[in-house]
Amino acid sequence: MKRRKFIKKSGLSVGGMLTFAQVKANKDLFGTEKQSIGKPVCIATWNVKDATQAAWTVLKESGSALDAVETGAKVEEADVNNQTVGKGGRPDREGNVTLDASIMDHQGNCGSVVCMQNITHAISVARKVMEDTPHVMLAGKGAEQFAIEQGFEAENLLTPKSAEEYQKWLKTSNYEPVINIENHDTIGILALDAQGNLAGGCTTSGMAYKMAGRVGDSPIIGAGLFVDQKVGAATATGMGEEVVKTVGSFLVVELMRQGHSPDKACQIAVERIVENNPEYQKIQIGYIALDKYGNSGAYCIHPGFNYRRFDTKGHELITPRSHL
Ligand code: GLY
Repeated sequence: MKRRKFIKKSGLSVGGMLTFAQVKANKDLFGTEKQSIGKPVCIATWNVKDATQAAWTVLKESGSALDAVETGAKVEEADVNNQTVGKGGRPDREGNVTLDASIMDHQGNCGSVVCMQNITHAISVARKVMEDTPHVMLAGKGAEQFAIEQGFEAENLLTPKSAEEYQKWLKTSNYEPVINIENHDTIGILALDAQGNLAGGCTTSGMAYKMAGRVGDSPIIGAGLFVDQKVGAATATGMGEEVVKTVGSFLVVELMRQGHSPDKACQIAVERIVENNPEYQKIQIGYIALDKYGNSGAYCIHPGFNYRRFDTKGHELITPRSHL
């Protein structure tokens, strides 16, 4: 079949680019009509069923996507058995637990906290930054002081279990991030509410035994999290440095804007990292994405990453495709 004929028949655009007509008609690269598959819906990185359950409880009562993502993220932050988020998180190499978190709503408002100590619910402080300050980001002592002024309780986030592991780590002090650590890592959570509004949140204690002051992708709007009401939302888990270098979540949303499905957008964004990094086999990156129609997708470098989806049809654990 001649190329021009094949392109016409298959509905593909030249060079895989969407035509203006396709974008306007809500069609994907293959000419398939995109349809709303129902709202509300929430998705979250990893098998965090209590978090998506809590978010769903908000959504099913016609609560906002913003309240849903905050509620879901708080479940993991409070869980001391989750050593990658909130209270109980593994410390930096000085023994301090420092948290990063961000939140974004359907109007493009956003807030984040960076390298904050002694406050469990970093996601809620990020929301306060968004709603009650003229700023987007507060860091370190300033973030902690703001949180305390807002009525958050200061507490020691280093649990005996994380302290004991840290003491063992000090014997070698070898910084070697573990792939798919404990099957959760950073928690990113995205929601589309019954009113059709999108929101996202992302929270983490960062890489275990990181350098003091190290900040990952999670509190960086566009890297660890991005929401665009006209298109969809994306969030990331894994080695934050690589996500920051490619402005990963923004990239995923922009790829969806060009007409790629959430799955394909996540795949292209992961492959951008793979192409740029000869040592990619040593790292894990996972993206999840939710479009404004309620379709979700994900992609990762290594198998072992999964994500939770809760919608009107039920609660699922989904294993995405991976590069390796
Ligand atoms: N993705 C979380 C971090 O790198 O800190």
